[in-house]
Amino acid sequence: MSSAEGVGVGLLGFGTIGTGVAKVLLRNAAIIEERLGFPLRLVRIADLDTETDRGVDLDGIRFDDDAEGLIADPEVRIVIELIGGYDVARRFTLQSIEAGKHVVTANKALLALHGNEIFSAAEARGVDVAFEAAVGGGIPVLRALREGLSANHIQAVEGILNGTTNYVLTQMEESGEDFEVVLKRAQELGYAEADPTFDVEGVDAAHKLALLAAMSFGVRIDFKRIPTEGIRGLEPLDFQAAADFGYRIKLLAIAKSKGEGRPIEARVHPTLIPSTSMLANVDGAMNAVAIRGDAVGPTLYYGAGAGELPTASAVVGDLMEIAREIRRDAAQRVSPLSYPHGELKDNPLAPLGELTTRCYLRFTAVDRPGVLSHITGALGEEGVGIQSVLQPGRGEAGESVPVLVFTHPAQESAVRRALETVDGLPDVTAPTRLIRIEDEL
Ligand code: HSE
Repeated sequence: MSSAEGVGVGLLGFGTIGTGVAKVLLRNAAIIEERLGFPLRLVRIADLDTETDRGVDLDGIRFDDDAEGLIADPEVRIVIELIGGYDVARRFTLQSIEAGKHVVTANKALLALHGNEIFSAAEARGVDVAFEAAVGGGIPVLRALREGLSANHIQAVEGILNGTTNYVLTQMEESGEDFEVVLKRAQELGYAEADPTFDVEGVDAAHKLALLAAMSFGVRIDFKRIPTEGIRGLEPLDFQAAADFGYRIKLLAIAKSKGEGRPIEARVHPTLIPSTSMLANVDGAMNAVAIRGDAVGPTLYYGAGAGELPTASAVVGDLMEIAREIRRDAAQRVSPLSYPHGELKDNPLAPLGELTTRCYLRFTAVDRPGVLSHITGALGEEGVGIQSVLQPGRGEAGESVPVLVFTHPAQESAVRRALETVDGLPDVTAPTRLIRIEDEL
């Protein structure tokens, strides 16, 4: 291959992100070539929908629905998998690896579930699988973790990893609008996953955390065991109470190391964080990841976590990195998860019950003398100390009111036992909402 011919790439999936990738490759072809010293050529695109006009000039690019033909095409050295979902994406990814093609994907769901199989196949075949766009969209956080921070013991990774939920939380807090109204707007803006329950229930953030945790701590990907809670059921009152106590509510994905050989803490849930912390000030659909290493100390990565062009920025960055390796015959320069696949350890996740945090509890109870003492009594029985109690309303004639409690640090299992008792009390009329508090960010 002459220098002018460059490295050929093929695109599987010509949806929103695929269109962004084609646009960046074409629009920024000159700067890409200047930086590489040779061109990156989009030679083929495959998608089932060959009719829709994506507004991209496809002159000289073969576009059809023949995914297998694209994978087998000798001109295609790197396959970009942007189909999404699990089954078809997994099949084509493994088929590409088998054919000796490098793969770039933005598919966090695929990697969270099948990453161990895919990375192991890629290592055996001597090809790369790159996935910068899968976590934090356009933010180059995986490269930072895999290369820039590789001298560190990673101590903690805490991130706002889902733009849809961050947008919803920010808007609910600012406007007091209902959850459903704000979620619909996020979908219209194109942030949400095809199935928005993945966003809302925290699953998308957990997919991303599974990858970050594996890369941070050298453990096998274990998405299914990450305790995950979404943002449904949060009420305007929660945002108000949080603000009164100097907090904001964010859906955080958290992974912490408790030290060599000890279980890892990994969890996704709405969290009260100090309103002065940097993560608390990440608003709208933006993402941010805070990573603490033993040598470097705290670091922060911020940017657009979704959207056509930001995500394409990460995909094309990966293509350029692999194209350089192809040119130098140096594939697998860095392992995808930062550790050689065989070195990854099985992942002993610490049970959530062992977690010690402060908590915000929203009880719903009939406004009757003595009810509060039953609630505080149940907490006291389990050794859960109370910092503040707040009853913002007055229930007339047997109406229920919210009773808000901020606890001292307590073990989750003890708090859960207390809540079981409280939720069984006759005057308590709805299940209690627990939101964990992270003070050290
Ligand atoms: N649906 C995701 C989000 C974007 O809302 O952040 C892609 O990961």
